[in-house]
Amino acid sequence: MTQEHASKESKAPKRVLTGITTSGTPHLGNYVGAIRPAIQANQEANNESFFFLADYHALIKCQDPAAVAQSTKEIAATWLALGLDTSKAVFYRQSDIPQITELSWMLNCVCAKGLMNRAHAYKASVDANLAEGEDADKAITMGLFSYPVLMAADILMFSATHVPVGKDQIQHVEMARDMGQRFNHLYASKKQPIMTLPDYVVDDNVAVLQGLDGRKMSKSYGNTIPLFLGEKQLKKHINKIKTNLLEPGEAKDPDTSAVFQIWKAFASEQQAADMRQAFADGIAWGEAKKQLFELVNGELAEARERYNDLMDKPQEVEEQLQAGAERARAVAKPMIERVREAVGIRGLV
Ligand code: TRP
Repeated sequence: MTQEHASKESKAPKRVLTGITTSGTPHLGNYVGAIRPAIQANQEANNESFFFLADYHALIKCQDPAAVAQSTKEIAATWLALGLDTSKAVFYRQSDIPQITELSWMLNCVCAKGLMNRAHAYKASVDANLAEGEDADKAITMGLFSYPVLMAADILMFSATHVPVGKDQIQHVEMARDMGQRFNHLYASKKQPIMTLPDYVVDDNVAVLQGLDGRKMSKSYGNTIPLFLGEKQLKKHINKIKTNLLEPGEAKDPDTSAVFQIWKAFASEQQAADMRQAFADGIAWGEAKKQLFELVNGELAEARERYNDLMDKPQEVEEQLQAGAERARAVAKPMIERVREAVGIRGLV
């Protein structure tokens, strides 16, 4: 089921927008949870998609320039290799749209500091500091504190109606709504609002994959399986997925097994049912992992070749990003002009 926080049902075309922070290498969890569903949704007729590389957001977490640059290249190449239709989706890099940071400042000026005090990510950092007996603000930058403002600018800039996110990002989309509402209240008439208030979309159907150690697959746990590993490496990683000591012939519980869970995310319904039976029948872990490798590799092999190609020819990727940025700026420019005019940043005559 898809859970939409929808304030109003409308038949107007959906404008779907989502950002991917450019820190880290895409892994199976990102693929199953975000990239694959986004690329599929982009094919739907009544959908306009805006997908972007949130490289300014990356600076909040990562101050290693080479890592930010590398991740940007990897993520862009990944989406293209997986077949994102860029004639339909507007695919761009946040930093190529200077109007976003400009809008971000305008929103900073209408956003209550108290709202930011309540942001989960910031609060978690404060709590961690306090738990360690440190100063509450230790290592907390203004970037981290005002992260939801930049994200609101990303969303409001393009009048997005639907923002697919993970559960951890729901609050940020709600904050974008708050900021948009506040801006409209201050600067626009009720009849002609300037900001479109976005709804978040959380798809409960997409799997949240477990990583090698059984916890949620996440870069921060260091338990990921990178998406485009070479075959040998992919096999090695799959072999490292934590299992238990049950012997071949002993029935195994699919519902607590990361092996089964990843299987399910790549399998047809029939294949999932068959593997469930195989678990009940006591399939050996080694055999289950071998089949898992075949399945995952089968889905990714072609895209991996394209990916490696694109990584060798970043010029092609750059061209796509530039073309996307041009289309994005065509939307952002008139919007920022309207916003400037509304707040009173104008020429004198
Ligand atoms: N903050 C999001 C994340 O870490 C990425 C992001 C940045 C985003 N700007 C956005 C997502 C705008 C949706 C809309 O996952």
